[in-house]
This record gives sequence, structure tokens and C-alpha cells, in this order.
Amino acid sequence: MLPRVLLIYIAALLLYCGSTAAESTVDWWESATLYQIYPRSFMDSDGDGVGDLNGITSRLEYLKEIGVTATWLSPIFESPMADFGYDISNFTKIDPSFGTLADFDAMIAKAHKLGVKIILDFVPNHSSDECEWFQKSIRREDGYDDFYVWEDGILNAETDEREPPSNWVSVFSGPMWTWNQQRQQYYLHQFLAKQPDLDFSNPMVREHMQAVLKFWVNRGVDGFRIDAVPHIGEKRFANGTYPDEPVSGWSDNSNSYDYHNHIYTKDQPLTLEVVYEWRKYLDEYKVLHGRDTIVLIAEAYSSVEVLSDYINNGSHVGTQIPMNFNLMYLNGYSTARNVEDSVRGWMNTIWPKHQSANWVVGNHDNDRLATRMGQHKVDLMTMLVHGLPGTSVTYYGEEIGMSNVATECTAIYCEDRDPERTPMQWDTSKHAGFSTGPTTWLPVSPAYKLYNVATERGVARSSLAIFKGMTQLKETSAFKSFKEPNGFTFAAITEQVFQITRTDSHSEEYRILINMGNNIEYLHGLAKKTMEYVLLSPHSPHSFGDKVDLSQRIYLMPYEAVVLRGDAGSY
Ligand code: GLC
Ligand code: MG
Repeated sequence: MLPRVLLIYIAALLLYCGSTAAESTVDWWESATLYQIYPRSFMDSDGDGVGDLNGITSRLEYLKEIGVTATWLSPIFESPMADFGYDISNFTKIDPSFGTLADFDAMIAKAHKLGVKIILDFVPNHSSDECEWFQKSIRREDGYDDFYVWEDGILNAETDEREPPSNWVSVFSGPMWTWNQQRQQYYLHQFLAKQPDLDFSNPMVREHMQAVLKFWVNRGVDGFRIDAVPHIGEKRFANGTYPDEPVSGWSDNSNSYDYHNHIYTKDQPLTLEVVYEWRKYLDEYKVLHGRDTIVLIAEAYSSVEVLSDYINNGSHVGTQIPMNFNLMYLNGYSTARNVEDSVRGWMNTIWPKHQSANWVVGNHDNDRLATRMGQHKVDLMTMLVHGLPGTSVTYYGEEIGMSNVATECTAIYCEDRDPERTPMQWDTSKHAGFSTGPTTWLPVSPAYKLYNVATERGVARSSLAIFKGMTQLKETSAFKSFKEPNGFTFAAITEQVFQITRTDSHSEEYRILINMGNNIEYLHGLAKKTMEYVLLSPHSPHSFGDKVDLSQRIYLMPYEAVVLRGDAGSY
């Protein structure tokens, strides 16, 4: 037996090592670079003008090259495509337009070989109306009768007609209830009528959805982005009726989603319960199968207080990453102070409680960054989103400065989200290298000869180069030490200049200075140290490797953003 003192010594040594190795206290997802792929638009391998899994597989090296830790794919499952895959008819089948299960397995295998994780979109709130479950539910087949939210509606004594059970309006406008002729009842759909809501108060539904998670983790998936989380549960009284929602005052149009305050159709207790259940299941799975943390990312346009509960509440743990959309509300006029307010909106509430942060700058539902804020702000935002502590979440094409593309509407109903979903711009060849076919499902940007991967690879200060520079910095110990005391600071140091510092306290410090405005900004005595320019926005008059004495007056040109490196300490 070892002498007692020696045992104590070993124990102390283990403790000591554990607490000083900064990186070991940060799990893979906590400082990850996440990248969203819209599979229809990333890379087409078979010339039909629609992106597919083999296309993604052929571009995995690119993800590695630009420093992506994990990519999340918008839905790739069998779907009639009423909402481009967010209307799933079979949750464990790959849609033929994207490929086969074998293609999927090949994609995962190659991604893992390269060290890139794959996250799938999990759409639990609803299925397609063409899903077998819904068809069985219409026919009241055994076990499926209560799979969806069905209601008789309210009989109007005057007209003798049935009216919807409540005044609820769907996210895409119009009633949240649609009459089904065959079953002679209304069904609930928070989104399109072709997306009936599953009833999560039914344990059978929960079992089925857990089986979906199991199917995909068994195939090696590293996590899930959960779609439309707040919409999972609805308020139903014990007597089976549904309460009307109060008018919000935000809109005059009673058919618009903004017309009501969604106190009975968003963020209900049932929703939290199922999110905790999924996390519990995946944590157990992780231990059982010796896997890295399987991450749950929640899409929830909710208040930070609610998001905090989605992360955890007491002993209940839920999503690790409730998406933080604060930065998406910035626009072309936003100042450094506005940036600070958005950042504080998260850091004041979530950080003290959970020491976790994530920053989303774009997705397939909102205008692209370059369109929202201006082309000249793209690099500034790239420095911001990767410069802040935590997880960065970007959308394909933002790294090369893609903007919305005006799409022509020829159909009766046109998707107003098409402009931010156009094909990825790979090179200067036909269709920007996205497809070899005659046409593409959405037009390629007319600006693709300027903004594309191949061209930007050759330019030292391109958006792509800045993106890569930032993701490389995320790998340094200074950037990974964000949970240490003084590991980071952020502030608007003038109305227009936003500053972030990152340090591991004993070796390096980085300082990111971003001028959001169109004036030259002079800064006086920022710190008693000399630093060096390591990353520069295109129009910066400075050069890589130039030294700058921060105790003196320094300046930033309009929209200039830079990263400086120096020794830690000595302010
Ligand atoms: C999410 C998706 C969006 C989809 C909706 C319904 O908000 O991001 O694209 O239309 O959910 O599934
Ligand atoms: Mg294809």
C-alpha cells in the first residue's frame, strides 16, 4: 500500500493539473465553430440543380480548411418539401433528392475522419400531413388516434357551423387550426397546414420521437439542432378547451402572427419537460457508448430568462446551446454601443448562471449578414462573432460575404426566404461551381465572380481569410481560457469602437478593435503595452506584423477592424 502522504500528494497533483489545464475545462461544443449548411444549396453532385449529401461529402475538406468544428444540416429527411424539409414525412429516411442512407453513412465516416462533427436538424414539433402517422391519425387507427392535436371546434349556434377551437394564428399567418373533412375535426398546426403539430402530452409520441434520436445517434450523429422548440407544447384546459390568446397591439392584421401575445402557444411547461427528457436520454447514451458530448442546440426566439430555463433548472438539464439571436437584430446603422447592448443582453443574464455563450449571425430564415448590415460590415461581424467567448454559429456563404439574391417569383405563392438560400459560390465557373446541370433550383448570385471561395482563397485580406484567421485564433489557449477570471473583456470604448480582449493570463493577449462607424476613430492610452497587428480588414492602412504602442494615440479608419497580439498582463 502507498503511504498516506504520497496518496494525498497524488490527489493534490491531480486536482492541481485539472484546474490549470484551461482547455480540459471546456467541452468541445463550448468554444466550437458551428456552421450551418442548407443542403439544397451547398453542393450538387448529380447535376439536377439541387444540392445533396454527396455534394456535402465532396466539400468536407473545405469545412476543415476554414476551421469548422461541427456543421449542422437543415433537414435531409423524406419530405414533400412544402417547407423544404421542415415538413417531414419519414423521420428516419433520407429524401431521395438528397441521396441515400449509404450516402449519409459515407458522409459521417469521412467527416469524422477529418475531425468534423455532424449535427442534424431534429424537427419534433410537427410532421408533414403526408406522414404515415398523420394519415393513421386521420383514420383514428389504433395508437395513432391522439398522435396529433385534434378538436371538434366550437359550434356557432347562429350559423350552425363549427369554428376553430381558439383564436390562435399560425406563425406563417392564418388560423392555427384546419378542418379535416375525413375525420370531421380540426387539427392544430403552429406552422403551415401541411405541418400538423404532434401532441407531446401523448407518451407514444414521445417514444416515437426518442426513437428518431436513437436512430440517428446510432449512425454516429454528434448532436441535434432542435427546430421550433418554443412551439412544442400548447395550453389545454382539463376540460379539453383551448384559451384564446390576448391581442398584443403589435399589428392591426388579425391574420398576422404578431396580432396576439403567444402566452398559450409558446414556451409552455410541457416543452421544457420534453427538452429535459431528450437531454437525459442523450447523456445516458453518451455514457453507455463512450461518446463525446452529444449536443442539443435549440432554435428558440425567446427571452433570455426563458432560454436560461431551457439550459437547466435545478437538477433538470436541457439544451447546451439555446441559440442566441441577439446579434441578428443589429442593422446597418448599429453602433458599437448597440453591439455592446446586444452582447450584454446575453452576458448579463445567461453568463453568470451558466458560463455559456453562443453567437448566431445568420440562418436560412433571415436576410444574409451582408444584406442586413452592409457588405462592408461582414468582416467586422466575423471578428465579433468569433472574437466573443463561446460558440460561434454562422451560415454557409457568410464566410465569403454572400448577400441575398433577388429571386423572381413565378409561382402563386413565393417563399420570401429564398433570397438567403441561393447556391453556394465556390468558384468563377458556370453556376459558381455549385452544379454542372443546366439550371439551379434558385438563381446563383450575379456577384459570384467577385465573391467565391476560389477567388478569396488567393486574397490575403478577403472575408474568407479573415474567417479562417478568426477560427484559428479560437484554437489558441487565450481564446479557450474564457472561463478563467479576466479571460475576456468586451466593451464599446467609444460610441463606434467595440473592443474585445482575450487572454490566458500567463502568455498571450489578443485585442480586437472594431470600428462600426464611418469616421476615423482616435483612441488614447488604451493600455501600457505594445502589440502587433495579426489580422486586418481589407481597407486597413496597417500591415501584418506592424507594431503599435497602445499607450500612445492610435487610430482606426472607417469600418476598420483589427486583431492585435501581445504579451499577457501589464495594463
Ligand atoms: C424553424 C425553421 C424554419 C421552418 C420552421 C418550421 O423556424 O428554421 O425554416 O420553416 O421552423 O419548421
Ligand atoms: Mg443533386
